[in-house]
Amino acid sequence: METSINPRRHAALLLFLLFLSSSAAAVSADMHVIGGNDHWAPNVNYTEWAAGEHFYLHDWLVFYYQPGYYSVIQVNETNYERCSEEDPINKYDRGRSYAMQLNETGHYYFISGGGYCWHGMKLSILVEPLPAPAPAPVPLSQSSAACRTGAWSAAAVAVAVLGFAAFVLGGV
Ligand SMILES: *[C@@H]1O[C@H](CO)[C@@H](O)[C@H](O)[C@H]1NC(C)=O
Ligand SMILES: *[C@@H]1O[C@H](CO)[C@@H](O)[C@H](O)[C@H]1NC(C)=O
Ligand SMILES: *[C@@H]1O[C@H](CO)[C@@H](O)[C@H](O)[C@H]1NC(C)=O
Repeated sequence: METSINPRRHAALLLFLLFLSSSAAAVSADMHVIGGNDHWAPNVNYTEWAAGEHFYLHDWLVFYYQPGYYSVIQVNETNYERCSEEDPINKYDRGRSYAMQLNETGHYYFISGGGYCWHGMKLSILVEPLPAPAPAPVPLSQSSAACRTGAWSAAAVAVAVLGFAAFVLGGV
């Protein structure tokens, strides 16, 4: 029975974990807790709060609120300005929280029912497309460097996967 950690297997495992975490980071979506520590409640300036955030496609909004008092009503721009609950796009008022994913770019408007919109419970956000993952087409003179970078990452992935396979099989 082997008692010490084989350094090569250890390195391979580390590489593999690094590879996993970098691919996870590439698809991560942010979660925005509305109002931060103030949550979804009266007398919070949500215009100020939203100005400090960036909302991207596939991000999540989470509204935490005191049950039985407030609601989350998605409305159009006119009804946001007027604090009107007429023809809501979506309405949620059960429990103490509501989470939704931002699956479209553009403006989203939310108000609370029960007259609390007049006490500041109104939120307008702009959802932006995901930032471009890669730079624009590479000029010819730089393409060999780009190829090398691409080949290097492919090699790193191959090494990590093979290394992990060796780690698993080596344990048998
Ligand atoms: C909220 O903050 C914004 C920006 O600072 C300001 O223009 C607006 O008047 C404030 N709203 C209220 C209701 O105080
Ligand atoms: C929002 O909906 C109301 C009806 O509830 C309608 O009168 C208004 O024109 C709509 N506004 C926009 C910007 O679509
Ligand atoms: C986007 O989200 C809304 C509300 O959560 C839902 O009704 C709609 O079906 C979703 N659209 C897509 C394309 O997933």
